Amino acid sequence: MMAQGLTSAVYIAASILFILSLSGLSHQESARRGNLFGIAGMAIAICATLLASTPTSYALVLGVMAVGGAAGSTLAARVEMTAMPQLVAILHSFVGLAAVLVGFGSFLDPATKFEGAEKVVHDVEVFLGVLIGAVTFTGSVAAFGKLQGILHSRPLMLPGRHLINLAIGLACIWLGVLFVGADSSMSALWPLLIMTGLAFVFGLHMVLAIGGADMPVVISMLNSYSGWAAAATGFMLANDLLIVTGALVGSSGAILSYIMCRAMNRRFLSVILGGFGGETSTSGGAAIEAEAVAVSVDETVQLLSEAKSVVIVPGYGMAVAHAQHPVSELVKSLKERGVETRFAIHPVAGRMPGHMNVLLAEARVPYDVVLEMDEINSDLPDTDVVLVIGANDIVNPAAQDEPNSPIAGMPVLEVWKAKTTIILKRSMATGYAGVDNPLFYRDNSRMLFGDAKESISAVLSAL
Ligand code: TAP
Repeated sequence: MMAQGLTSAVYIAASILFILSLSGLSHQESARRGNLFGIAGMAIAICATLLASTPTSYALVLGVMAVGGAAGSTLAARVEMTAMPQLVAILHSFVGLAAVLVGFGSFLDPATKFEGAEKVVHDVEVFLGVLIGAVTFTGSVAAFGKLQGILHSRPLMLPGRHLINLAIGLACIWLGVLFVGADSSMSALWPLLIMTGLAFVFGLHMVLAIGGADMPVVISMLNSYSGWAAAATGFMLANDLLIVTGALVGSSGAILSYIMCRAMNRRFLSVILGGFGGETSTSGGAAIEAEAVAVSVDETVQLLSEAKSVVIVPGYGMAVAHAQHPVSELVKSLKERGVETRFAIHPVAGRMPGHMNVLLAEARVPYDVVLEMDEINSDLPDTDVVLVIGANDIVNPAAQDEPNSPIAGMPVLEVWKAKTTIILKRSMATGYAGVDNPLFYRDNSRMLFGDAKESISAVLSAL
């Protein structure tokens, strides 16, 4: 068994690697390095934990790790970029479930014998760990269902839903008091079991009540919860590294939730209380009577060859169509013709934070032409052609013009201010939030219908 001092030293090294990993992951250029730091930190953390503990059987631990590792790596290798958010959601649910199981394990373990204040502290750790874990578990399963399309993205608006949440919250506090004050394990088990059931219902209800457009906040919030669930597990197992790692994930997820809230112009509390986004399945407000104007590939090529400046707005459809590689080629070709070509990235474009940046990096688009929404919105009025590739909600003027729209108040890329906006999509269908887009009917808007990859490839060969 490894000496306590050495274990602590290795844990500190692993924690530093995790911090370096997080800082690396915050910039595209250093993301790959950040990932390697994370992998190295996790590898030495697992080795140190195994060497520092005395499991009943190392063979069993290694066998279970081999099965889990094989399942995880197969899934990760096979997953499509577009299915990444649901994979992340289901992984969060595992962290939550693990916290619940560790909590029950720790409570039922006859070897854990605490007295007096220590017992109270341990009981509180178990209760909170199971509570956070259970909410994370069912919340993440519901998020998985919504992102996978198994559950509808429309918010579930139960009558008196705030009261239901309040009642569950108060009941959990009362059960917590009963649990900590119980004089025997048997009388403590019931409050713990009932609270777990209520927390499962709460997690499910909380996420089902949140509409499609607010899913980015939900994903980052569950990321944060999974971190706190891991930290709670760390307290129960008296493992310092798990506490530190959980706190890192929990706080970085909380910061991400804040960034997502700002990107959506929402208050965190109103998102959590639910009900935004997707109330309407096809319309966002005023009826649209104008007609959209379709263009051909040749007309698109004509517009692009006359342009001096082009801005490309990628969205979820670019990911679905796998169009990033021809898009990258198009940028190269336009650059060679002396056309200034840049990308405008909305913070919630696609289905996960940084989704578009990852795709463009994969297609080797230079980072310096990839700009954030705030950096480029003011340049759009001076842009000749904007190519909207498979994006919809993030370029919807209803967010500014229609106060009753489910996406009202969400900052959007003001592509309609450019001289001409060409929208590449397959039909007139709505985006994730289920809201009609008046952009398609503006005088300077042109629709290039078809699969984004096929359309861009056709434009590329005609250029
Ligand atoms: P969306 O609003 O979902 O629009 C995507 C558009 O792409 C659709 O209108 C679709 O129209 C088109 N499309 C689909 N497949 C295509 C293909 N093969 N070729 C061409 N077009 C295709 O996407 P967005 O503008 O990126 O907005 C993101 C939305 O997702 C926001 O509402 C956001 O809140 C939500 N969301 C974001 C995240 C994060 S963290 N980014 C997480 C969860 C949810 P057609 O069907 O007509 O082709």
